[in-house]
Amino acid sequence: MKLVRLISCSMLICAAIACKHNEAEYHSLKEKIDEESKSYHDPGISSEAFLGDVNTIEITEGGHSFLIPERKSQMQSYACSECHNRPLGQMQQKGKSKRAHWDIELNHANSNAMNCATCHNGDNMDETLSLTGNPIDFNRSYLLCAQCHNSQFEDWKGGAHGKNIGGWAQPRAAMTCINCHNPHQPQIASKWPVRFNSHMEEERK
Ligand code: HEC
Ligand code: HEC
Ligand code: HEC
Ligand code: HEC
Repeated sequence: MKLVRLISCSMLICAAIACKHNEAEYHSLKEKIDEESKSYHDPGISSEAFLGDVNTIEITEGGHSFLIPERKSQMQSYACSECHNRPLGQMQQKGKSKRAHWDIELNHANSNAMNCATCHNGDNMDETLSLTGNPIDFNRSYLLCAQCHNSQFEDWKGGAHGKNIGGWAQPRAAMTCINCHNPHQPQIASKWPVRFNSHMEEERK
């Protein structure tokens, strides 16, 4: 009994919905869905419109292919080997008051777990260094982060962590880890919501 009522009821609802539209436009519900969702699959815009003059490289990770910003041309002190052409020990001058890279302070994990040499290879500064001693190109520094932050890396590959440039417009382009997190101090500062200052408004009346 109940089932019959349910069916007839839903048929009534369907009929009511169908009446609101111009039935002649579509031959079936499927056709209507296909037609009206076209703009989602092909929005007619390209992510290139949002990239501006950012140079990108294409990467493929875990079946996902997308663009990320290129880094080396953006880094102030690249190529490192312009200065790092001899062993670090010879470059470090004891008692010198002005140290190179004085502006870089490490505040990431604790000093037992991490120091400069965790990520930078004194023998070849032009590439970063994996925990097992393999070189990682500066343009792919997300692989460095992925060693210890796998869950964020997995999310990022799928598009859930970090930002896609131009939303889901094709070709997919995403910010890379260091675009948002300074590798030396990766914390993102907490922010207060913007507040309307009614007091200031009063004073200016
Ligand atoms: C303009 C020259 C110059 C450039 C370019 C340069 N370095 Fe250095 N770097 C130095 C000098 C000099 C030292 C020795 C540190 C000191 O003054 O005690 C040094 C030291 C370092 C150290 C060791 C720091 C420490 O406290 O143990 C790291 C790591 C390092 N550099 C990374 C890099 C990387 C990575 C690049 C490229 C992205 C780079 N450097 C580019 C001059 C340079
Ligand atoms: C967690 C890994 C990690 C550690 C630890 C680390 N770095 Fe870096 N460093 C990076 C990455 C990744 C970049 C490249 C960032 C980018 O793409 O701009 C970088 C960039 C640099 C640069 C080039 C900056 C520029 O804009 O040209 C210097 C110099 C440098 N690091 C020195 C150091 C020194 C000195 C230490 C220790 C005090 C250190 N790093 C510790 C990952 C690390
Ligand atoms: C050798 C392991 C290691 C590597 C490599 C590494 N991290 Fe971390 N990172 C840590 C540890 C440990 C912490 C501290 C975790 C905590 O406080 O909960 C941390 C903390 C962080 C945090 C959170 C900071 C906070 O307290 O909010 C961010 C963001 C972060 N790392 C980003 C990165 C990025 C980006 C890279 C690559 C450039 C990277 N990490 C590379 C080990 C690593
Ligand atoms: C578009 C910017 C952006 C990109 C790209 C990005 N992150 Fe984040 N990340 C954030 C923000 C925002 C937070 C949240 C910070 C908070 O809540 O305090 C965060 C948080 C984190 C944290 C702290 C733990 C957590 O989930 O709150 C880690 C670790 C981290 N990111 C690692 C990474 C790694 C690794 C990559 C690259 C694979 C990456 N992030 C790419 C913006 C970004």
